[in-house]
Amino acid sequence: MAPDMIKHKPDIPVDTATLLDRAFTQADYAINITDKKGVLIKVNQAYLDLYKFSSEAEVLGMTQKVIRSPHTPLAIYKDMWSTILSGTTWRGNLNNIARDGSEVFVHLTISPVREKGEIIGYMGFSLDRAQQVLLEKELFHANKLVVLATMGAGLAHELNNPLASILLDAEYLRDIFVMPEKAFDWPTAGSAAQSVINGVERMKKVLEHLLMYSRKEGGSGGQKYSTLTLAQLIDDSFLFLDRQLRSRGITIELDLESNVYLQGNRTQLESVVHNLLSNSRDAFDGKKGDKIISIGARRNQPGKLEIEYRDNAGGIPEQLLEKVFEPFFTTKKEMEGTGLGLAISRKIIIEHGGTIACESKNGGTIFHIVLPTTQPENPGFSE
Ligand SMILES: Nc1ncnc2c1ncn2[C@@H]1O[C@H](COP(=O)(O)OP(=O)(O)OP(=O)(O)O)[C@@H](O)[C@H]1O
Ligand SMILES: [Mg+2]
Repeated sequence: MAPDMIKHKPDIPVDTATLLDRAFTQADYAINITDKKGVLIKVNQAYLDLYKFSSEAEVLGMTQKVIRSPHTPLAIYKDMWSTILSGTTWRGNLNNIARDGSEVFVHLTISPVREKGEIIGYMGFSLDRAQQVLLEKELFHANKLVVLATMGAGLAHELNNPLASILLDAEYLRDIFVMPEKAFDWPTAGSAAQSVINGVERMKKVLEHLLMYSRKEGGSGGQKYSTLTLAQLIDDSFLFLDRQLRSRGITIELDLESNVYLQGNRTQLESVVHNLLSNSRDAFDGKKGDKIISIGARRNQPGKLEIEYRDNAGGIPEQLLEKVFEPFFTTKKEMEGTGLGLAISRKIIIEHGGTIACESKNGGTIFHIVLPTTQPENPGFSE
């Protein structure tokens, strides 16, 4: 028999129950055990340290809601509960709140604990992600700067066009006052004035967006969530790309189910759409024939919006499909792509409780995105 196959008598001075208790208490992972309703029954020292509780007695009997952060979207809790209630393990990243009010970023795994097949409680493992979150925040801000740089060219067009028409309309209106002999009619004057207003409003919107993008969100990890629709997101993402796409002969086809609401961070979700659109724009470079981007969204199952983003720009070679979500993977020239677009997009989608996948077929690329939906007024969720 090989020497490593020989069994040894364990050298341990305590019985198995004591050993399990010591291992639980001293584990480096923050561990908590709850009953079926989420009431805390047992936590270990790492849990007390992570969430800054002074003793186990302080926290036992409370529900896990005691560490819930308003910055974690309700959709994540909803997904978590529906997963564990169905008897499977839930894994995900979320923000919690420590006893002193500070934010705690964790990767959480919750699995059901069973007795004779029945779920009697849940066990949670929290892994502290503080360092990783710091790096990700920097990376996200860096990507926003890249997005801003690519917006540069579009921005000049977006502001130039309304400016040119504002100038023409304002000159027409001025002439009415300074050249009384010139023929004019009031309805035309009225629509010239309206067109000045429309142009100024459009420019205001473009500039507001620019500011929103460049601002570095701090504190809560840049996680300001609001209720929004996909149509709004797409509309706003077009603010900087509309003309770039049109001037290249790229057509957009939208087929979005209406009255579907998402809960999320607008800047982040917009940057996902922006990245997808700019990737297609780049892929169409030098291509002949019809250039079409189509975006469809359906609620095929309750509580989930399935988005299909498609272009016919040539697709992605089979051997690269796995790589496109990796940070810094790019096929673009230096200075033209950082390779962060899809890596950050995937991170954003996952943090919103969703998934993103990519396939390439029939000479085009398809991105499948699933995001949890919410109610219009966000009446809240209670499990
Ligand atoms: N619609 C698409 N069609 C063809 N290839 C694509 C498409 N979208 C992404 N890719 C490929 O995936 C790579 C990674 O995309 P990603 O958005 O992560 O980075 P990037 O576009 O190269 O750089 P950045 O986003 O910083 O400008 C691209 O370089 C390209 O090769
Ligand atoms: Mg990109």
